[in-house]
Amino acid sequence: MFFNYLLGLFSNDLAIDLGTSSTLIYAKGKGIICDEPSVVAVKKDGRGRKVIAVGKEAKAMLGKTPGNIQAIRPMRDGVIADFEVTEEMLKYFIRKVHNRTFFVRPRIIIGVPSGITQVEKRAVRESAQSAGANEVYLIEEPMAAAIGAGLPITEPSGNMIVDIGGGTTEIAVISLAGIVRAKSIRVGGDKMDDAITQYLRRKHNLSIGISTAENIKITLGISMPDDEKRSMEVKGTNLVTGIPVTMEITDEEVREALTEPINAIVDAVKEVLAQTPADLAADLVDKGIMLAGGGALLRNMDVILREATKLPVTTAEEPLRCVVKGAGIALDQIELLKDVTIPF
Ligand SMILES: Nc1ncnc2c1ncn2[C@@H]1O[C@H](COP(=O)(O)OP(=O)(O)OP(=O)(O)O)[C@@H](O)[C@H]1O
Ligand SMILES: [Mg+2]
Repeated sequence: MFFNYLLGLFSNDLAIDLGTSSTLIYAKGKGIICDEPSVVAVKKDGRGRKVIAVGKEAKAMLGKTPGNIQAIRPMRDGVIADFEVTEEMLKYFIRKVHNRTFFVRPRIIIGVPSGITQVEKRAVRESAQSAGANEVYLIEEPMAAAIGAGLPITEPSGNMIVDIGGGTTEIAVISLAGIVRAKSIRVGGDKMDDAITQYLRRKHNLSIGISTAENIKITLGISMPDDEKRSMEVKGTNLVTGIPVTMEITDEEVREALTEPINAIVDAVKEVLAQTPADLAADLVDKGIMLAGGGALLRNMDVILREATKLPVTTAEEPLRCVVKGAGIALDQIELLKDVTIPF
């Protein structure tokens, strides 16, 4: 008991949101100490791959690397796509936040998508262990997001969370610290960026880079019929002439481009609502839906969900940080940790 208490004083326990777009780390007693893009730049030479940049520095290289350098996003659709690179990335971030001499192997809690497979779970656990974790706990992302958004998840009452990330959208109804109904779809911000890229290619023969697509999405978002018309200048390459050009893109075009991914999200939310037991669904009539994740910041995303479900929709405070905050809260409260983590 006393020994555990002492260990706790010196512990370096961490909560990690290993996201498709960004990785956040919370340290007990210190708050969020890492918030970086999940990107790694590697250089290929005769003997293999060598990491040359991680995080912000590596993201700046996306789409701009010469042949021997590759900027990799090791997470795809919410799960580990490149095991080796994910491990390197985690090690780098953990070392960066643990740069002191006295080192207790930390307990680490990591957020994972609710639909995760055994193989994917093992990949997450092994990369955390090889990055120095002593004990690894997994928490389902919608559960972490709900806690981080401040929902009273331990009460016997329905709480609905919709976390729209880069790779996945996680939807869950939670009561008594358990997930009652959930759905995870592999549609999120990345699919929106792809949809914009393809739309401009089809409609204007315009080829744009990945960061340009994200920038268009963030700047223009989804327009509503009564909104003031907005537009922006976009640089790309004309696919017919091969010449770099500037074009004016409107918010109406973005709305049209995003029809498919937005509909997929709306349909998934409705599906979970339809499957929710009546008593919990009744709670949602007043409490409504809590929106989290970067996609919660998409202009009018809340309005679209409100119109589609006729329920109140609230955007969480700091939506990009809900998962790491919630995992951190669980880490700090051992009873909650036992209730909300999932077995391997
Ligand atoms: N203001 C904004 N408007 C629209 N989209 C935004 C905005 N800000 C961030 N995003 C998008 O949110 C996504 C990142 O969200 P988030 O950090 O929650 O994802 P993640 O947790 O890394 O991914 P996942 O949970 O799927 O693994 C990106 O696609 C980004 O473009
Ligand atoms: Mg996320």
